[in-house]
Amino acid sequence: MIRVGSVGLGAISTNVHVPGIQASKDLTLAAICDIDAEVLAEKAEKYGIPKDHCFTDYKELIDCPDVDAVDISVPNNIHAEIAEYAARAGKPYALEKPVAMNEDEALHLYEVTRDCGVRNMVCFSYRFKPAARYAKALIESGAIGRIYHVNMQYFQAWGLPIMDTGLRWRFVKSITGSGALGDLACHAMDLVTFVTGEKYTKVCGHLGTFVHERRLLTGEGTGKVDVDDFSNILAETESGASFSFEITRFAYTRGNYQRLEIYGEKGAIIYHLDREEPGVNELEYADESTGRKFVKMDIPEEYYGDQMQSFADIVNGCGDGLPATMADGAASQRLMDAVIRSAELGTWVDVRGYTEV
Ligand SMILES: NC(=O)c1ccc[n+]([C@@H]2O[C@H](COP(=O)([O-])OP(=O)(O)OC[C@H]3O[C@@H](n4cnc5c(N)ncnc54)[C@H](O)[C@@H]3O)[C@@H](O)[C@H]2O)c1
Repeated sequence: MIRVGSVGLGAISTNVHVPGIQASKDLTLAAICDIDAEVLAEKAEKYGIPKDHCFTDYKELIDCPDVDAVDISVPNNIHAEIAEYAARAGKPYALEKPVAMNEDEALHLYEVTRDCGVRNMVCFSYRFKPAARYAKALIESGAIGRIYHVNMQYFQAWGLPIMDTGLRWRFVKSITGSGALGDLACHAMDLVTFVTGEKYTKVCGHLGTFVHERRLLTGEGTGKVDVDDFSNILAETESGASFSFEITRFAYTRGNYQRLEIYGEKGAIIYHLDREEPGVNELEYADESTGRKFVKMDIPEEYYGDQMQSFADIVNGCGDGLPATMADGAASQRLMDAVIRSAELGTWVDVRGYTEV
């Protein structure tokens, strides 16, 4: 069993990481860490972790001799610092996205991890959706031929004024780095690369903020939002294809909605997430054999995967190569910085070679 220490015990840890660790035949949750002592105490009781394996300082968790691998789900500003500490301690890590606050930090972490020879995974979690994996396999088989266009929508609603969301860390640049861009667009651009195999050569970004002040979570007053609420992106790829991304936290009624349309020379594929039910992914396909009409595909069992089991496989040296690693995480961060530059300059920005980290 790989003994995992989890750092950051908030939403994604509670809903995805810890259940994944508990469900894995190869992983066991050995230690936990959160700077919030109340959260730590609550999770210690829930997960049955003894007091001497509960920490408020991530260094103590990583140094704990009963921790073999580190699972990191903290806010973005401390991703790189914690992952670097794990790498230097020779402990494999699973790290949430975006991997860092900017390109320099991401490339530094990539290099340290590589030089320490530490196994790693970056949690681009939509790579585990069966519909995405099946779409990737169909494209690799040549089913739809050369790709001309991709459009990906990634929509959430919680930024809308009617949702009355306070000034969470996701709206504060010094903690989050960027807004919808690093939160959602990084998933979308990674998923599209993963599914299509296409490499971006230039990007053009349009970022914006609708609500500039939000109520403080402490109760009184408001604070400034200094990141993007939406991030729309145009991208060209090495094959000359034209891709577009529509990314927002201001899409009425949308929970975690994704729609990815891929149009090739002899067929087309549509991947959906949350079209009807939260968490449900679906695939539609059209080519000559379907009479050029979209039909819903049954997704074969072999395309089902699980993020935390994949981390166990990576640590055990038997991964399938499909999850993202720090090379992908650093490439993604470079791309996000290029989109910000593009939006600031109001021009296209060259990103050739960015995926070759
Ligand atoms: N892959 C995905 O689909 C996905 C989905 C949601 C969130 N995320 C990512 O996961 C990360 C966490 O997001 P969340 O929604 O769970 O946030 P959250 O605010 O719910 O939880 C973060 C937790 O980290 C703790 N924390 C903060 N600083 C810490 C420190 N120095 N040491 C230890 N603990 C610390 C906080 O007290 C909190 O409990 C973010 O980077 C986010 O981008 C990824």
